[in-house]
Amino acid sequence: MSDMDSSTLQSYDLDFVWHPFTQMKEWEEEPPIVISEGKGSYLFDTNGNRYLDGVASLWTNLHGHCRKEINDAIKAQVDKLEHSTLLGLANDKSAILAKRLVDIAPAGLCKVFYSDNGSTAVEVAIKMAFQYQQQRKGNYGGKTKFITFKNAYHGDTLGAVSVGGIDIFHEVFRPLLFPTIQAPSPYCYRCEMGGNGSGDSCERFCLQELERLMAEHAEETAGLVIEPLIQGAGGMIVQPDGFIREIRELCNRYDILMIADEVAVGFGRTGVMFACQQEGVTPDIMALSKGITAGYLPLAATMTNRKVYDAFLGEYKELKTFFHGHTFTGNPIACAAALASLDLFEKTGLLEELPEKIDHLARRLTELNKLNHVGNIRQRGMVAGIELVEDKKTKRPFAWDERIGVQVCLDARKKGLFLRPLGNVIVIFPPLSISIEELDFLMDGIGGSIREITG
Ligand SMILES: Cc1ncc(COP(=O)(O)O)c(C=O)c1O
Repeated sequence: MSDMDSSTLQSYDLDFVWHPFTQMKEWEEEPPIVISEGKGSYLFDTNGNRYLDGVASLWTNLHGHCRKEINDAIKAQVDKLEHSTLLGLANDKSAILAKRLVDIAPAGLCKVFYSDNGSTAVEVAIKMAFQYQQQRKGNYGGKTKFITFKNAYHGDTLGAVSVGGIDIFHEVFRPLLFPTIQAPSPYCYRCEMGGNGSGDSCERFCLQELERLMAEHAEETAGLVIEPLIQGAGGMIVQPDGFIREIRELCNRYDILMIADEVAVGFGRTGVMFACQQEGVTPDIMALSKGITAGYLPLAATMTNRKVYDAFLGEYKELKTFFHGHTFTGNPIACAAALASLDLFEKTGLLEELPEKIDHLARRLTELNKLNHVGNIRQRGMVAGIELVEDKKTKRPFAWDERIGVQVCLDARKKGLFLRPLGNVIVIFPPLSISIEELDFLMDGIGGSIREITG
């Protein structure tokens, strides 16, 4: 419980806080739920109600809330060193974490550039790829563009928005963005080529179109940016098996840097530590954040290989330096939380527990597939999206302004669940430490709310 009473906190929020991705006119109509505690898979509000955290506090939490081991590591670090800059100095925790990240990352990623959120991790990747092409040996200065995907989401800073592809979020900023070469979404069951729901035709269409774009633009393309295995914010769009491997091969063939944005899918979400490892792929650059501190503190890392790193080496006067750096880069408290999280992976065998949970989730999702208004269910590891449609046969969507997804999630609150939809897609993204019983509670609640709202 908080020191202040609930209604005072609610009025402070309503009076002074501007919430992200929120129509504030609507927000101001209802007193908000004010969260003041967390334990395991649950969040508790100031009135003592508990909610199962079905979105892992925006896709960050791994080991549950208020995990003693991470709390202790943070407390110990606060008493030693709260912050010291990486501009001109090293610090112990960021050095150890870099070594540990290199040990677990896809083989070949050997350098870690720190920043503090997913968007900056992607910004760093874009700038790094761009500058690499300018500085590598040979004449590659014309490689300045990026291949991106429809439905992609890489964050909200302008570079990250430029490589994104969700019109409803991004279109208003178009005049501020740099242009990219946009490929079709890796898999859309309502694909413009008449996909049959299996993903096959979409995959073929997408790869053919991608290769055509790469062949046409190879000489002007610095990098390709992709969320491997799952396009998250685009609606939990799952890519077919082998897709990432094909992308890797195409990037090699056309001499384009492969940038994998593992901000959402990294740290075990898909069942292995990093999504690219599902297909034995090493990207040239990999962006990490969210789960890196198990959802405790803002921290991000952009990892790269020797080839990219070496292109930045030279005499100072050559000006090959990567002139980029955030104030809290490599913050030791955040790095201590990240190290404690990696220790917990080893201590609890979290990854080894996942296959059972993933299978259980798959079984529970199959039951929901029978519901009249469930049009498509997409799962990869511990992440899933349930797409609600008006007409199951034709897959005709609900009108977007009916906000069926929001209605289902609001109903689920009454059942003790906190969910946040993506349009008409109900998102399942719990802490990885969730138990089978809690998973059942989550799925029972979601099923009940879908039934109640869609009839
Ligand atoms: C794939 C992906 N990349 C980047 C980001 C941006 O991360 P942040 O919100 O920490 O800037 C997100 C956030 O949801 C994401 O899902």
